[in-house]
Amino acid sequence: MSDISDVRQWLSQATNVVALTGAGISAESGVPTFRDSQTGIWAKFDPMELATEEAFRAHPQRVWQWYASRRDMVGRVEPNAGHLALSCFAEQNPGKLTVVTQNVDGLHQRAGQKGVIALHGSLMVDTWLNPAKECCNPDHLTAEEPPACPACGNMRRPGVVWFGENLPRRALERAQQLAEQCDLMLVIGTSGVVYPAAGLARMAANAGASVVVINPESSALDDLAVSCFRGASAIVLPELLALQSS
Ligand code: OAD
Repeated sequence: MSDISDVRQWLSQATNVVALTGAGISAESGVPTFRDSQTGIWAKFDPMELATEEAFRAHPQRVWQWYASRRDMVGRVEPNAGHLALSCFAEQNPGKLTVVTQNVDGLHQRAGQKGVIALHGSLMVDTWLNPAKECCNPDHLTAEEPPACPACGNMRRPGVVWFGENLPRRALERAQQLAEQCDLMLVIGTSGVVYPAAGLARMAANAGASVVVINPESSALDDLAVSCFRGASAIVLPELLALQSS
């Protein structure tokens, strides 16, 4: 296993670095992860009742309100030292680091990270449930929850990827291309059990990149790692990226 000075050296020598992030990077901001056995979102709620198209069609108001409450919650928290360390590193090393995230909370973007690839969409945007017709205008909606087209009743839905749905094609293709080309991938705060996102780390390792895992617990991607840092990303990332924690 390599240590912090090895990883710093790889970071300085690398041409392309990918940070593949999951819910754990936002934990220190106060956003719950999904699979923590006590506090995880999926320990409290059944994803099949909230995070599928079928659930939305069956109970649109309930699902809409649940996502609205999550959006309010993330709007009240701030990016943490982990998000900020990544965005500072990217700013100081133009063109070297791309963040590919599974998170829908927008905290990387609010930390100033440019060019974030959001594999699972965003809590901050919504979209049409059914393909938009000519009458569907997002500026003219009913006042219901969820809002709908007053002419045809097409509803707005959260702009997140639900279970059983494809990832946004261009985002996934770009992420796969980056995974195949990078010299170093930092796998941060993800359990590594959700595909195709987790497959990006396998792709990077198979293509010869060094994979470094940052996670206080073991993850399903540890077998790929040349180095595992067992700590909170808000502590480890500022150290690894040689920045002061703020
Ligand atoms: P999980 O909840 O599955 O995993 C979160 C990971 O973060 C775990 O491995 C924790 O050990 C780790 N962790 C906890 N605190 C941390 C900290 N302070 N610093 C670093 N790591 C920490 O979340 P994801 O892997 O992101 O999908 O889940 C993947 C996808 O499953 C999500 O994007 C979501 C969910 O269903 C969609 O919404 C489509």
